[in-house]
Amino acid sequence: MNELSPAETLRAALAGLLDGLPARQAAGAVERLIATYRGTTPTDAPILRDRADVAAYAAYRMPATFEAVRSALAAFAAATPGWEPAGHVDVGGGTGAATWAVSATWDGTRPVTVLDWAEPALALGREIAAARPELREARWQRARIGAALTLDPADLVTVSYVLGELAEADRAAVVDAAAQAARAVVVVEPGTPDGYARVLAARDRLIAAGFRVAAPCPHSGACPVVPGTDWCHFSARVSRSSLHRQVKGGSLAYEDEKFAYVAATRLPAAPAAARVVRKPQIRKGQVLLELCEADGGLARQTVTKRHGTLYRAARDADWGDAWPPEAEGA
Ligand SMILES: C[S@@+](CC[C@H](N)C(=O)[O-])C[C@H]1O[C@@H](n2cnc3c(N)ncnc32)[C@H](O)[C@@H]1O
Repeated sequence: MNELSPAETLRAALAGLLDGLPARQAAGAVERLIATYRGTTPTDAPILRDRADVAAYAAYRMPATFEAVRSALAAFAAATPGWEPAGHVDVGGGTGAATWAVSATWDGTRPVTVLDWAEPALALGREIAAARPELREARWQRARIGAALTLDPADLVTVSYVLGELAEADRAAVVDAAAQAARAVVVVEPGTPDGYARVLAARDRLIAAGFRVAAPCPHSGACPVVPGTDWCHFSARVSRSSLHRQVKGGSLAYEDEKFAYVAATRLPAAPAAARVVRKPQIRKGQVLLELCEADGGLARQTVTKRHGTLYRAARDADWGDAWPPEAEGA
C-alpha cells in the first residue's frame, strides 16, 4: 500500500530520474537551463529540448512549482467548499507539476489533459505520473500556445509558470482560451514584480470575461498594490533535494518558493474576508498583520493578547492565509 503523500511520491519519482546520471552532469544541465531562462524569452522553439534538459528541469523545479500551485489551489478550494473539478486541462503543463497539485488538492480521479509544445517534457511527465495512480489516465498532448489555441471544455484550467515564456499576444490568447473553456482558471507565476504584473494582466482579462476572483484577492476590484512600489506575492516551503544543494550550495533542508497567482471562477465562490499579504510580525504580546481587505484596500491590523482567541489565531497566521481564519469559505 502506498502511504506516501503526493509530495513524497513526486520526490521519490524525481529522485529516480537522476539515477545513473552523474551528479555533476545533472548539476551542469540545471545550470545551463537557469542561464537559458535568464536569457531573452519568449523563445521560438522549446527550451526543453531533450530528456536530459527535462530531467534536470523536473528534478530541480517541479517540487517548487508543485508546492506553489498546491498552495494557490488550497486557497481556491477554501473559497469554493464542496466543489471539485470534474476535469482538468493544464496548459503549458510541461512535466505536469500542476496536475500533481490538482490531484493532491481534490481526491479521486478525473479526466486530465496536459498540453505543451515540448514533446520531451510530455514524455517525461507521463513517465513520472505513472507513480501516482490518480494520474495514470492523463493525456499528454502536443499543443502550441498562440492565437489558434482552443481548449476543450474542462471545469478547471491551470496555467502554471508559463506566461513568462510567452509574447504578450500569446499570454492574452492563452488566458482568453482558458476563460472560454473553463469554469475555474488558476494562473501561477514566479513571485517577482514581472510575474505579479503578468498575473494582474491575466486577472483583468478573466474579470473582463465574466469571472470573479476567488483567491488570493478578497474582491474582484482593482488591485490596491501600487505598481512600482510593491508586488503581491506569496511563499511556499519546498524541501530541498541533494541536487538543489549541489547547484545552490548551502545545507538548508528547505527553501521558500515565491509565487504570484490568481484563481478566478464563474462558480459561486466565497473569497476570504481578508488575506494576509506579508509575513506577520510577531512582537511581545501582539501580532502585526498586513491585510488585503474585501473593500478593496490594504490595511494594517494589530492583534493583541486582549483579543483572546483571535490573538492565538494571529500567532498561527501565515503569509497568504485568509483572515480571520473562520471567515474563509463562510
Ligand atoms: C517553466 S515551464 C512550466 C511547466 C509547468 N507548467 C510547471 O509549472 O512546472 C514552461 C512550460 O511552458 C511550455 N511552453 C512555453 N511556450 C510554449 C508555447 N508557445 N506553447 C506550448 N507550450 C509552451 C514549455 O515547453 C514548458 O514546459
